[in-house]
Formats: sequence, C-alpha cells, structure tokens
Amino acid sequence: MADLLIEGLTKRFGGVTAVDNISLHVADGEFVTLLGPSGCGKSTTLAAIAGLDQADGGRIEVGGTVYFDAARGIYRPPEARSCGLVFQSYALWPHMTVADNVAFPLSLRKVPGPERRRRIEEVLALVEMERFADRYPHQLSGGQQQRVALARTLVYHPAILLLDEPLSNLDAKLRDRARAWLAELRTRLRLTTIYVTHDQIEALSLSDRVVVMNGGRIAQVGAPQEIYERPADPFVADFIGTTNFLPARVVGAAPAGGRTLLELADGQRLEVVAERPAAEGSRVTIAYRPEQIRVAPEGGGGEDGSVLSTHVTSRSYIGGNWQIGLDLAGSPMRLEARQAPAGDPLRLWLPHSGGILFQGGADAAA
Ligand SMILES: Nc1ncnc2c1ncn2[C@@H]1O[C@H](COP(=O)(O)OP(=O)(O)O)[C@@H](O)[C@H]1O
Ligand SMILES: [Mg+2]
Repeated sequence: MADLLIEGLTKRFGGVTAVDNISLHVADGEFVTLLGPSGCGKSTTLAAIAGLDQADGGRIEVGGTVYFDAARGIYRPPEARSCGLVFQSYALWPHMTVADNVAFPLSLRKVPGPERRRRIEEVLALVEMERFADRYPHQLSGGQQQRVALARTLVYHPAILLLDEPLSNLDAKLRDRARAWLAELRTRLRLTTIYVTHDQIEALSLSDRVVVMNGGRIAQVGAPQEIYERPADPFVADFIGTTNFLPARVVGAAPAGGRTLLELADGQRLEVVAERPAAEGSRVTIAYRPEQIRVAPEGGGGEDGSVLSTHVTSRSYIGGNWQIGLDLAGSPMRLEARQAPAGDPLRLWLPHSGGILFQGGADAAA
C-alpha cells in the first residue's frame, strides 16, 4: 500500500508534448481515473509511472520512494518499481495454463514453491477464477482472460495498480458486467489504483476521483459528482455526458447568486442564476444537461424556469423514452421525454438554477 505523488511530469515525443506539466497526489488506497479523449496523454502518464518510458521532466514518488526525478537524474527501471500494470490486451502466455500464467511473476521473483501455491490460490479466488486454474487462455472468454491478467498482476502484491483501458476489448454486455465486478473487487482490495479510460461511465462509476485530461494537461480533478455537476470548463462539460450549449448575451447583469437576464441570438430571453457574476453586454454560454430541461407544460412552466420557443429537428424512440432534437435560436439541444412532442414549434422549459454559465460565446463550447 502506498500513495502516489506526481509533480510537474512532462513527456515530449519530437514536437508533441504528450504530457504537459502534470501534478497529482493520489492517496493510499484511493482509486483515481484518468479520463479524456484519445491522444490526451493518459497512457503516456501511466507508462511514466510504471517506468516503461522515461519522462523529460518532473518527479514521481510511490510510498515515499523516488521512481523518477528529472532534476536529480533519478530513473528507477520498471523492475525496481512496485507497479502492477494491466493493459487492454491481456497478453497472457497462450501455451501456459491459468495457474502457470499467474505463477510466472512469482518464479521471476524467486518466491518458494509452497508460498507460490498459496498465493496463486488466494489470487485466483480473489478474481473468482479458481475453477479455471488448469485451463488455457484460448479456453476462456475475454472477460475471464482479463481477470487472469489482473490476477497475474495482483499476485506479487504491487504497491500501486495501473490499469490502462482494461475493459475496452470486451463487448458492451461483458464490459458492463466486468465493470460491476471491478467495482466490487475494488472495495475488497483497497489498493491505490490509477485507472485509464475514455469511457465516462467507467470513470464516474468506479472512481473516488476523476482526472479529466485534455491535450496533455489536467482540465479538472474532482469526485465524479463534482465533475458532472460542476464542470470547470466547457471541455469538461462536453466530454462528460451529453451537454446542451446555448450562447447568449448578458442584458441584465446580477450579483453572484442573483438572476442574470440573457438574450439569445433570436431575441428570446431567459433568466439564469449564475454563481459568478457576468458583466453587462458580455458574451456567455450556458450549459444544460439533457435531464435538466423539459417540454413546458401546456400554458405554464414559467415559475421556476424560462419558457422558450424551439423547433423540433428530430425524434427517436430509444426504449422507454424519446430522444428529442431541438433547435433553439440556432443552437442544437437534446432532451429526453416520455412522450414524443406533438407539433412544432415546441415550448421548452429551462430551469433558472442548475445551468452552468461559462464566459465566452459559441466558440467557448467548441
Ligand atoms: N511512442 C510514441 N511516439 C510518438 N508519439 C507518441 C508516442 N506515444 C504517444 N505519442 C503521442 O502522444 C500523445 C499522447 O498519447 P497517449 O498517451 O497514448 O494518449 P491516450 O492514452 O490518452 O490516448 C498523442 O499525441 C500520441 O500520438
Ligand atoms: Mg491510451
């Protein structure tokens, strides 16, 4: 068990800065996910922690042991670091049984026979694969192979666990099950874990904290609910969940916590409670989650929200609900409703509170 400290980590590939001055502290036993689009530097960060690749700058410490310190010229090779690394490709040895696959890291570390057998049994029970000890990898499903890969890592008791998109090779159903299983395992293990994914559901459901990355930098760090409900910028709002962005101009400024009056491109007006005041005349963008907005009730809805006229651009049945596409003053909006909207234009209800106001116009959401 150990904490992880990353300070000013930087890694360049030629002209590309893959990881750009990242700092992060992960507490002992904490489960932290690096989340972001492909190419944002997640795997490079993980590889630097594991020592697979030497970074250009910064410092990495695990449980007080310095793994890397560019300024002091310290670089510990991977075999001298206590990191359990699991990739999306399971990389099991095809000619070895499950038990032999799991035993391999122990023989490398010269763990004696009886102790080795005890640990193999223990770890296979942990990943619920004890019945499959004598099978070969090709006799297992993808999900089972991934569990063996995890067991092979856990068997040597690493100080921290590093998982790089471990579920992304599984099909959707298996992935759901593997995710639930991983969530359960995680509460039993209490092992410091860095989990890498581009899947927001995995990130939100598994993590103590989520680190959203964008272009090699950290865009936001926070608990899952905080990231979802209070995104720090339009990138985070857009990347996590579906978000409706509405560019507007401030026509009635208000102090923090007061109702700011906004005007849309087509002249319609709405009021929003902003946490930070926005200046009169300034351009802003409001972000709403699909579950925050509704079709306005017949003849009403103006009490705790604004009612605006929109055009219906699409309607699709998604099982239980309808997904409705709208055009509001030139901006696309998406919401779900129990019933397909009748008629066009459609009156849309936007709450006074709950939308998030960002400074800047339409390009802020791009
Ligand atoms: N070995 C490499 N050589 C050159 N460029 C690389 C190498 N590895 C990663 N990159 C680049 O660094 C950036 C970050 O990559 P990566 O960390 O793999 O992203 P992610 O895991 O978030 O998808 C990307 O622009 C990628 O093309
Ligand atoms: Mg990657």
